[in-house]
Amino acid sequence: MTVKTLPALLDKMWKDYVEINPLAQKIYDLFTKEGELVLNDHIALRTFNHPRLTIDVMARPFLEAGYKFCGDYQFVEKKLYAKHFEHSDSKLPTIFISELKLEELSPAVNQIVNRLVDEIPKGKELEFDFVSAGRPWSVSTQDYNELMKESDYAAWVAAFGYRPNHFTVLINALKKFTDITELNTFLKNNGVKLNASGGEVKGSKEVYLEQSSTLANTIEVTFKDGKLSIPACYYEFAKRYPLKDGNLYKGFVASSADKIFESTKHGQ
Ligand code: NI
Repeated sequence: MTVKTLPALLDKMWKDYVEINPLAQKIYDLFTKEGELVLNDHIALRTFNHPRLTIDVMARPFLEAGYKFCGDYQFVEKKLYAKHFEHSDSKLPTIFISELKLEELSPAVNQIVNRLVDEIPKGKELEFDFVSAGRPWSVSTQDYNELMKESDYAAWVAAFGYRPNHFTVLINALKKFTDITELNTFLKNNGVKLNASGGEVKGSKEVYLEQSSTLANTIEVTFKDGKLSIPACYYEFAKRYPLKDGNLYKGFVASSADKIFESTKHGQ
């Protein structure tokens, strides 16, 4: 079903996300059982910098709905560039969109990606809910494995297409779990495995942002020529600290996110 409004789009994105990452729903329910109101800090989307699919193309529906560009980031090691967009309604999640810099990858990767992109009907990428369209191409296990050799990010986008990579719980809006370490302990006591790459907590009060995340769950994905069990999505937790002017820091920390991107690399 196509959607045409921002609330409907965000709703569709969440439903699709918990369908392939039921652990996120389980964690969400754990918090609500504790009497918490769960707000989303940000939603992360992934794309290629192919001219038809750049960040700016993906950002269109959000800009149309009142979001504004607020910051950009380079992730040198992962060969990514990213932008974040905020809405004046602070209850709405920040939208974080990253793109893979194809010019930094081999001709073999470029060839596969170009072939996938050519399968998208012309103009489909301009539809309001394309960011929630799922995989708009067919892809083989061979393509997936080939991409994986150079970029797990490229392989993820090829396999899952256009849907949130993760949602993020805003710790500041929780009442019982104000400390990220205590929150992590609560999750682990409930059997949740956290991404420990670079330590469970990424960032610090000094950089105004602390984050942790689950490991991506593994799901079976159908390809053109068979099935593969591969890492899908993860759930993230963010605590923000006030800047000197008293307002909470709303941006991201590239060195922390570099490690968080690893969540979909190792799977479970
Ligand atoms: Ni994130």
